Amino acid sequence: MSKAQGLDRGLTDYGDPDFSRYLRRTFAQSMGYSRELLSKPTVGIAQSASGFNNCHRHFPELIEAVKRGVLAAGGLPIDFPTISLGEAFLQPTSMMFRNLMAMDVEEMVRAQPMDAVVLVGGCDKTLPALLMGATSVDRPAVALIGGSMLAMPFEGERLGACTDCRRFWAEFRGGRIGREQIGEIEAHLAVTAGTCAVMGTASTMAAVTEALGMTLPGTATIPAVHADRLRAAEASGRLAVTLAETGGPRPSQVITEKSVENALRVILAIGGSTNALVHLAAIAGRRGIRIPLERLNRISDETPVLVDLKPTGRHYLPDLFAAGGLGAVLREMTDLLHLDCLTVTGETLAERLTPPLAYVDREVVRSRSAPIQADGGLVALFGTLAPDGAVLKRSAANPDLFEREARAVVFTSLEDLSRRIDDPDLDVTPDDFLVLQNAGPRGAGMPEAGYLPIPAKLARAGVKDMVRISDARMSGTAYGTVVLHVSPEAAAGGPLGLVRSGDHIRLSVKERKLDLLVDAAEIARRRAETKLKPPPARGYGRLHHEHVTQAPEGCDFDFLQASSAP
Ligand code: FES
Repeated sequence: MSKAQGLDRGLTDYGDPDFSRYLRRTFAQSMGYSRELLSKPTVGIAQSASGFNNCHRHFPELIEAVKRGVLAAGGLPIDFPTISLGEAFLQPTSMMFRNLMAMDVEEMVRAQPMDAVVLVGGCDKTLPALLMGATSVDRPAVALIGGSMLAMPFEGERLGACTDCRRFWAEFRGGRIGREQIGEIEAHLAVTAGTCAVMGTASTMAAVTEALGMTLPGTATIPAVHADRLRAAEASGRLAVTLAETGGPRPSQVITEKSVENALRVILAIGGSTNALVHLAAIAGRRGIRIPLERLNRISDETPVLVDLKPTGRHYLPDLFAAGGLGAVLREMTDLLHLDCLTVTGETLAERLTPPLAYVDREVVRSRSAPIQADGGLVALFGTLAPDGAVLKRSAANPDLFEREARAVVFTSLEDLSRRIDDPDLDVTPDDFLVLQNAGPRGAGMPEAGYLPIPAKLARAGVKDMVRISDARMSGTAYGTVVLHVSPEAAAGGPLGLVRSGDHIRLSVKERKLDLLVDAAEIARRRAETKLKPPPARGYGRLHHEHVTQAPEGCDFDFLQASSAP
């Protein structure tokens, strides 16, 4: 092993390298490692287990399996904690802390002596943060995905977080089920370790990670509690030793313009989460690669939806695994992919996809000749209301609402929304567009508040969907005609912040348009009297407010993006 590898890598600065090495070995030996083991290549295991992260509760067992693989291949495994982001446990929103976790990962991988790293994550923001950080360090890395929950039957019906969570909550708000029943259901929606069991953000990012080539093939969809998940962990540990010994491929060789485009196509083909667009833009941005939303529309027009999973379709994530996994989807779209992309194992994507799959369940993974939808699940909209774009998950929306002009009912903030949405005197009809302002990245950390609840009085009257427009995000597990990520956001001076109740807005999915039908002089008058919120006085909130970019750039911090692809 060369001098700059293993525990000799990146010595602590004492002004005397020999002393630094001696001191490090002294303390390393205090942990009971043998001298022999301390001379091996070191594999860091970035792990994000936390008591506040239900999705990662099986990580201790997973990490043990990674260590087993590293040891079996002749390496020294050393795990280290990262920030953990449990989706439902963070205020105001996990999204606000994704960049903090990415900084943690980047700095700790760089600062600690590891030759390669296994990135272990799963819950929504964790995989993006791990990939963002690792891409910036560019040390050899392999991602190990935590895997999804199982969808278990309850009273004759299979339930899985969290599309079903939302469906039942809408029923409760509409008065069709009672408080006792919703309390009972709450205990049966998420019953195993792992990430949400539908094609939400976590599952979409798992697919993105495999499509980019950053995981072992065939591992994106293995359920969290399946024995194959542990075998994938062991194999990832083994691979990491090879990466440590050979020095690559490094993330910069795997995450390229072409592999990013592959991942974008996969998001569309699986009916993936809108959030994945933001995360992929952030990961790509760490390599100086941009994803213009106009390109999304072009690719969306050419890419059919092939996977029949909730919230777009009928099935759950474990069904996709049993149906052939992401490999079945990729094999169905080889003519649309850049097959010469290098993956973390050193194979090209073409080599990965050459062995045929023994079995594919066409109920879950459709063939190209019988897709779920002929075009991609996501579409970008532009216009006077969204000069830099907005996003709609058309595969989970109601096409009857796609071509409309309607009156805006505006909520100026999340607080205003929660105060007035169920007010019996709210002036709203099912044909209106609900508009939420100041819920974008700078305004509120970009929470998943874009799925505005249907006003209670309309929900009780049976209204299930309305056009909703905001600068917020939406959970990948949600559905409805929800226009998200309006950019620039209201808090950055975007026209969204200038909409008033009673204004008219025109939506045309066919024309990819979102226009505010108010004349320019009136817009200028409103702009002149609008005051933007000042940044928080101190701390991470201030850093976030001052440096977060808009959704099309991935909401990364401006100073962490690479200026251009090297
Ligand atoms: Fe972790 Fe849904 S809450 S993936």
